[in-house]
Amino acid sequence: MTRPRQSGTHAVLPALPDNLWRQRLRRRLLRWFDRHARELPWRPSPGLYATWVSEIMLQQTQVATVIPYYGRFLARFPDVRVLAAADEQEVLRHWEGLGYYRRARHLHAAARQVVTQHQGCLPTSFEQWRALPGIGRYTAGAILSIALDQRHPILEANTVRLLSRLVALTADPGTGSSQEFLWRFAAALLPWRRCGDFNQALMELGGTLCTPRAPGCSRCPLANMCPAYARGLQDQIPRPKRRAASVTVHEAAVIVQCADGRVLLRRCQAGERWEGLWDFPRVELSAAADRVTAAELCGKVAALTGIAIDAPRPLATFRHGVTHHRITLTCYQAAGQDCGTRRGAVRWVALDDLAAYPLPVTGRRISRLLQEERA
Ligand code: ADE
Repeated sequence: MTRPRQSGTHAVLPALPDNLWRQRLRRRLLRWFDRHARELPWRPSPGLYATWVSEIMLQQTQVATVIPYYGRFLARFPDVRVLAAADEQEVLRHWEGLGYYRRARHLHAAARQVVTQHQGCLPTSFEQWRALPGIGRYTAGAILSIALDQRHPILEANTVRLLSRLVALTADPGTGSSQEFLWRFAAALLPWRRCGDFNQALMELGGTLCTPRAPGCSRCPLANMCPAYARGLQDQIPRPKRRAASVTVHEAAVIVQCADGRVLLRRCQAGERWEGLWDFPRVELSAAADRVTAAELCGKVAALTGIAIDAPRPLATFRHGVTHHRITLTCYQAAGQDCGTRRGAVRWVALDDLAAYPLPVTGRRISRLLQEERA
């Protein structure tokens, strides 16, 4: 064992486990994976392209949520050339509901870069993958290890938790020195063969047994090698993150309709929460909807869209959360005063055409309300 190292915040980092311990871990983990791995549509590896798609979808998203999206996405965009040739709007439409839409925009931009810079051949080197939009150290390592069995370590939320428990890391795993330590640990653990299976096994164990709460230590193949379990610290490691205080926000989304039934949609701009998606004009209110004047609402919609509206009436209220914001969204219906042709970021759209536009989840709910009202 090497000597414990001091981190920048004076928390003591553990020593890296020795070679014998690491060998035992590899054997046990791979044997467990062979017996217990879930059957998932991206296993065994379906090649570079589909592995890339799966890894991007799996970032910050549960396996069960990803499965149907993965199937639909690959059916429509079966290879990198088809993806590159598609409209960003259609790519976002296939991502609708999965959240973190920047992932889809980066995936699409990266596909275009692969076609223009690599003649449509997906790279096989770590550095070339890192040069693509949306590809960080984790994603490049995951894709190349899983699809090509290249020897690259990975570190993501599930493995941070598992590795932290396996060395009883009491320091905050998010600090620079802890991250550097965990990357070195992940690299030291890698076997020389079956690197992709090994990385997936780490994630699988982290995602299914070594869970944040109530981990299944009694079924874990590594339990008797785990110092966190030995010391009863599995519920305290990793150290829980301090949560940002939740903020209450009141918003309004307005169905602005013209006499022929078309509704106003606005494309969300760079820096906005849903960049690239379309939305019913949505504004933040100064207070709860029942305490806000029609003048405030009309003024804010006109400032956002350039369209004057008349007599907004509340139609429905949705409550939802985005990060630490608790949002109460009141949906209004109002008549638009200028229904002439528009291009660019603001458009009049027939109800039958709403299905082609990528909308935020609440936007799609509003669109369903409209379809139901019409039926
Ligand atoms: N999370 C991210 N990638 C994963 C994978 N390949 N298997 C299971 N969970 C994952």
